[in-house]
Amino acid sequence: MRAVARHPYSRSTVSTSSQPPRSDAFVFFGATGDLAFKEIFPALAGLIRDGLEIPIVGVARSGDLDSLRERARASLAAAGFKDASATSALADRLRYVKGSDEDVETFHALRREIGQAAHPLHYLAIPPALFGPVVTNLQVSGCADGARIVVEKPFGHDLDSARALNRLIHGVFAEQDVFRIDHYLGKEPVQNLLYFRFANSFLEPIWDRNHISSVQINMPEAFGVADRGAFYDSAGAVRDVIQNHLLQVVSLLAMEPPSGHTADAVRNEQFKVVDSIRPLKPEDIVRGQYRGYRQVKGVAPDSTVETYAALRLAVDTWRWDGVPFYIRTGKSLPVTVTEVLVEMKQPPQAVFAENEPPDANYFRFRLTPDCSLSLVARAKKAGEEMIGETVELMALHRDGTGDPPYQRLLGDALRGDQALFAREDWVEAAWRAMAGVLDLPDQPFVYEPGTWGPAEAAKVLRPGDHWHQPSG
Ligand code: BG6
Repeated sequence: MRAVARHPYSRSTVSTSSQPPRSDAFVFFGATGDLAFKEIFPALAGLIRDGLEIPIVGVARSGDLDSLRERARASLAAAGFKDASATSALADRLRYVKGSDEDVETFHALRREIGQAAHPLHYLAIPPALFGPVVTNLQVSGCADGARIVVEKPFGHDLDSARALNRLIHGVFAEQDVFRIDHYLGKEPVQNLLYFRFANSFLEPIWDRNHISSVQINMPEAFGVADRGAFYDSAGAVRDVIQNHLLQVVSLLAMEPPSGHTADAVRNEQFKVVDSIRPLKPEDIVRGQYRGYRQVKGVAPDSTVETYAALRLAVDTWRWDGVPFYIRTGKSLPVTVTEVLVEMKQPPQAVFAENEPPDANYFRFRLTPDCSLSLVARAKKAGEEMIGETVELMALHRDGTGDPPYQRLLGDALRGDQALFAREDWVEAAWRAMAGVLDLPDQPFVYEPGTWGPAEAAKVLRPGDHWHQPSG
């Protein structure tokens, strides 16, 4: 009989004594910031609607409880959150601690505010420079006792700083209480990559170098860096979305089947993929910068930071030997989409003489803004000639991508479930892979906003391959 176990990505509704304790207070640093406004208030309201009943404490330098409540209401209105009772429950549940993250008095006040809570969860939605003082002050004030910590991406700035950050955090929190958030892992269509691969038997025999020609991940975004100039100019596209979101996608596409049914069974295989990425060299990447970027507030007038990157990865494993993984992302491109194309090899012989060489078959997974899964194939055109056309067999299509990823992930963190969070070794391996293409001194190619970026991106492709332009 087949063994059936709950998959670690599944959410259990049944509590057992072997499960870690649920967090009994939610504390967020950076309560008046952008991330709180866009993601955290709507996620909390969704969790409250689904039954969450714990105190929620915002920490920030300015404002008061009334203004925080007001901001929470404005955030929910902006997110289109409709449930009026969850909205007022969130406002009621909110508490507020005003003070600097660098002042230990703020943390003594926080300890008093969370009262009896024995397992608070602390969410650091703050600039990375403040992680150090916050972690130290959490410890000194006793707020870290029995607690969990959630840390936003990018986790560190490079391998050395990620290691230093891991050391700092581990001085206070055990790894089982550390949640490195990557909201891509909270997206339904991203989880579907794992599901689709390992819930179907037809895929495994063809999911390797013998049948797959290349894998391509496109993540164009039709907007610029807007009011995030200062952050973005210290990061760039590789740090902002490739080292984390897109390498998570590569991990799920390329991993081996997990052995066992624990959260770590999946994370072990995800780690092995990033650990086997051949460290990139400058010739593996083409970088671009959209015209006008240097005029954005917070951006250096002579910035060499990339707002666009096209690169080629090699995953050095038996399964993927010789299969290029292409990644392309950029701001101010024509559309906002994240799409994966897994391109199969051409049939060994051209049985039908066609004027245009036909496209190979490929699987297409759309990850944002909608969720779809299709197989692109050739079919004969009606008529006397054996000439075909490309058809798309749509297996699944959903508008939207399910519950907001932050809702899923914060709910998991509150229950102590780490399956959808990046492990320390994964993060460090991802930085190791990217080390050779961070902070390159050369000037990126300038491209016009609204175009597909520099034509030079073709340089990273193997002869015969091309970039696919996903539609919006
Ligand atoms: C964030 C990046 O992590 O992900 C942004 O900082 C990017 O620059 C965003 O736009 C994309 O996420 P999503 O969920 O909107 O596709």
